[in-house]
Amino acid sequence: MKKKLIIIANWKMNPPTVLEAKKLFSAICRSARRLRKINVVVCPPSLFLGNVRNSAMSQCALGAQDVSVKSSPSGVGAYTGEVSSAMLASLGVRYVLVGHSERRTLGETDAMVSQKIHAVIRDGLTPVLCVGEAVRDKEGEYLHFLRKEINDSLGSVKKRDISKIIMAYEPIWAVGKNAERADTPDELFEMTILIRKIIGESYGRSIAMALPILYGGSVDENNAEAFLLRGGIQGFLVGRASINPDIFGHILKKAESVKSSEH
Ligand code: PGA
Repeated sequence: MKKKLIIIANWKMNPPTVLEAKKLFSAICRSARRLRKINVVVCPPSLFLGNVRNSAMSQCALGAQDVSVKSSPSGVGAYTGEVSSAMLASLGVRYVLVGHSERRTLGETDAMVSQKIHAVIRDGLTPVLCVGEAVRDKEGEYLHFLRKEINDSLGSVKKRDISKIIMAYEPIWAVGKNAERADTPDELFEMTILIRKIIGESYGRSIAMALPILYGGSVDENNAEAFLLRGGIQGFLVGRASINPDIFGHILKKAESVKSSEH
């Protein structure tokens, strides 16, 4: 059977109140209700995870936007302000974004990302590894950048664990409200080929071909279909459009209607 698409809502630091978070979560889960081809994952701010889970319907899985680099096997420690992967698991979280560009901007290194992936897998959750270049220069330096970022972020991930990872390709220039534009489906297709090549070099071709790759960066209801048809991807990581339940609902609908043979 064809694997389901994965569409992840990354709410970032939104909405401002727990009441709004519960409403938004319920609205998204309502849109997800009759989807057969899509796994919908919602990543609220960690503070709201428990609250939205209690209002949860089984149509949506829960994800976290980040995890502590200090996540120890015991899940506890003297790390003020940190949240461990064991804590996330105990709340019913199943996916964790790791290495989002907005966290890397705050100082997260590839080595830290690698440690986080290790902890997330150890605690039985699925890491969503975010990678992407800041600029797409004419000389093609960004291709080398991406190769290094992927290899260093995966660090010591063993072959037996690589199939537990989801990759999210998010070119930084396409992300957020200051984005230049979204990527184009054709350029995205080339990037997914490159990502599979890089993974294939370390882990073998069959693992590389099976790796789910999501696209993120200014995804909306107008470009979602073309990305799925021609981008070589298995889903999306959606930022801004995911805090508007109508727009996010349209994206889900468009994705559901793309013929399964076409992604
Ligand atoms: P955007 O953000 O959809 O608002 O561009 C995507 C992301 O940061 O995950």
